[in-house]
This record gives sequence, C-alpha cells and structure tokens, in this order.
Amino acid sequence: MPSLSRRTVLAGGLATPVAALAMPAIGLNTPLKIGMMLPFSGTYAALGESIAAAFDMHLKELGGKMGGRVVELVRVDDESDPAKAPSNVNGLLGRDKVEALVGTVHSGVVMALVQASRDQEIPLIIPNAGNVAATRELCAPSVFRSSFSNWQPAYGMGKALAAKGVKKAAWVTWNYAAGIESGDGFRDGLQSGGAELTKVLTLPFPETNFQPLLAQLPGLGVDAVGAFFAGGGAIQFVKDYAAAGLRDKLPLCGSGFLTEGVLKSQGAAAEGLQTALHYGDGLNNPKNVAFRAAYKSLINREADVYAVQGYDAAQMMAIGLEGAKAYDATVKEFAAAILAAKIDSPRGAFTLSPSHNPVQTIYLREARNGENRVIGTAAEALADPGTGCKMT
Ligand code: BEZ
Repeated sequence: MPSLSRRTVLAGGLATPVAALAMPAIGLNTPLKIGMMLPFSGTYAALGESIAAAFDMHLKELGGKMGGRVVELVRVDDESDPAKAPSNVNGLLGRDKVEALVGTVHSGVVMALVQASRDQEIPLIIPNAGNVAATRELCAPSVFRSSFSNWQPAYGMGKALAAKGVKKAAWVTWNYAAGIESGDGFRDGLQSGGAELTKVLTLPFPETNFQPLLAQLPGLGVDAVGAFFAGGGAIQFVKDYAAAGLRDKLPLCGSGFLTEGVLKSQGAAAEGLQTALHYGDGLNNPKNVAFRAAYKSLINREADVYAVQGYDAAQMMAIGLEGAKAYDATVKEFAAAILAAKIDSPRGAFTLSPSHNPVQTIYLREARNGENRVIGTAAEALADPGTGCKMT
C-alpha cells in the first residue's frame, strides 16, 4: 500500500489540510470541504447511500454549516475495494483539498483513511467500518467512530445465545477484518455465559457461493450458527440458509447487519431471525421518532442503522468543528469537544470511550413482518474492550 504520509503528500505539492483547518485567516466565508468516501457501488452500495443521505439530512438541519462555515461535500465511491483506497484518499486530500474526512463502510478500506488522518492530523469520523484497530492500537486524537467496533454487536449476540442455554455454536462469515473480529466478539460473548465457539467457517469477501459452507454445518455438532454478512451478501446468505432446510435444524443468528436494511429482499427466509445490534425498529425515544419521520419524508425510505450512523457522524463532525473553531482549530480541540459531548443519537444517547468508540447498548432484535423489532437488551453500556490505545 503506497504511503500516504504527510511528507509524501507535501512532496507531491499537495494540500496541507490541517493547516487549513488551523488557519483563522481562511475565514468563515471560505467553504469547508469534507471528503465523503463511501461505497456507492457493489455489495455495500445501499449502506453507503443510507449513510450519505442521513449525513446530508443533518447538514441541512444545520443550515448547511459546520463550525460556522458552509460545508461542501466531496463524494468518492470507494467500491469497498481496499486496493483502490490509498489513491481515493490521496485524491480527496491532494486534488480536492478536503479539510476533514468521513468514511467508510468496509473494514479494510477504512485503514487508508485512518492512516491519512493519523499522518496529517485531519479529522476523520468513521460512520460504519468496525475494524477494531482504528480505536485500539491505531487510535489517534483525530480519529472517531460514530458506529461500533466489530467486536461489540457480535459480543451481545454471543452473550444472549449463551443465556438461552446454547452450549456450542459455529460462526460463518467473510474472511476479512469485519467477519473475523465479529467472530472474536461472538466467541467472547458465548464464553461470558459458559458456552463455546467451536468452529469458524469463511469464504472470501464479497463471494456469495455459500453452498460448500452450508453443507458442512449439520456435521459440526453445534446447537446454533451465528453469522456476519451485510448488504447484498446478507440477502443471499439468509435465503440460501433457509433454502438448504437448515432453519429448523440449526437456529441462525448474527450481528444485526445480517438482517439490517435488507429484510424486504430476504422475505420469509428472515422471519423470526434473532440478531444483536446497537439499533433496532420500535425504539420509542423522542429523538428516534423525529429522526425516522424526517428521514422517511426526505429520503422516502425507512431509516436503518446505517442512516443512524451517518446522522451521528454529522452530529459528531459538527460538534468537533464547532469546538475547533472556538479554540482556534486543532485536532486537540476537535477531539476535546466530541469527548465532552453526549451524542443525542436515535439509538439512544451515547458517549465516546477514551479511544473514541461509542459506549452503547446492544439490543436483541427479532425479524417480524419486515422489521427488526427490539425484544430486549443484549448488553448494556457496552464498551469495546480493546487495550493498546496510546493517544499521542
Ligand atoms: C465492515 O467492513 O466493518 C462492515 C461492513 C458492513 C457492515 C458492518 C461492518
């Protein structure tokens, strides 16, 4: 992966975004460019669209301004392709001269954004990708997440499954950070209730030939199967699982991404599936009720967790930029403002951990009639357990 260090960018005669954020001389009349790198094509396209739509919605609520400056969003389709990530990020910083970053969905792609943010001290809000390193060993003052660590939702699912009396379970997923780290969370959740994860089955991202994996499941001697898939892959997996006749033999569950935003396409195959996530349908707090109504009327779609994370990314960016302006604009003040805030999220208010990851409730949900209905709490005020975050 080509280095995206500050020195490389400067040597190429490119912009110095931090300096721009830090220079009062730029003035409140200069538009603030925010690079929004998300998948708008491929298996995660719908996730990227929801995030972008809700980010935009909050920006409109703010009258188009953050930190006193008119915001100009520069969108890039990252295609969920890690190989293209460094050049996509370099384009935003060098060609487009953005001063802050929002992105992305895929845990592999996000690493280029994290590296750029660390190297150049440019504010980054991650509105989905759960790669644990971003808020563990690679944590940085400029890097925040409005979503989750891959470990969190799956930990909640494992814990809830053990509480139901399951003793042995398997995990099926794509073989990349999101799938593997979710499996670690599922294992830890199971263990917290005296159960075990006895097998992990994987296939490469974003492949959807699930048959060879499904064929192995009945022979594993497990009581239940957990899975991480999302977007188009999740639609296919849930349908194939049901079509293989496994639903009655081996209860299927997962991180909530398995059924989030895709229930319509999954149809009857998803009915009754239990999943765990930091959001769900039917959360009856005033913020969520208002958010869902506004999103529905603006976008003409029901909100999902991706929309919530996009909305909260905009809230966090605005809070950080406001703080940076007030204190003469460095990432230190950007970070201090977000850390001091309670984010008024549709999922329920949350704070950020010292490593900048949400501390949040993980809900247990059940798919019924096209909704992921909240039926209980899988884990209360859950923080990612990561150690190794050394802020510099
Ligand atoms: C990830 O790659 O981190 C991810 C993608 C989709 C849903 C959840 C996590």
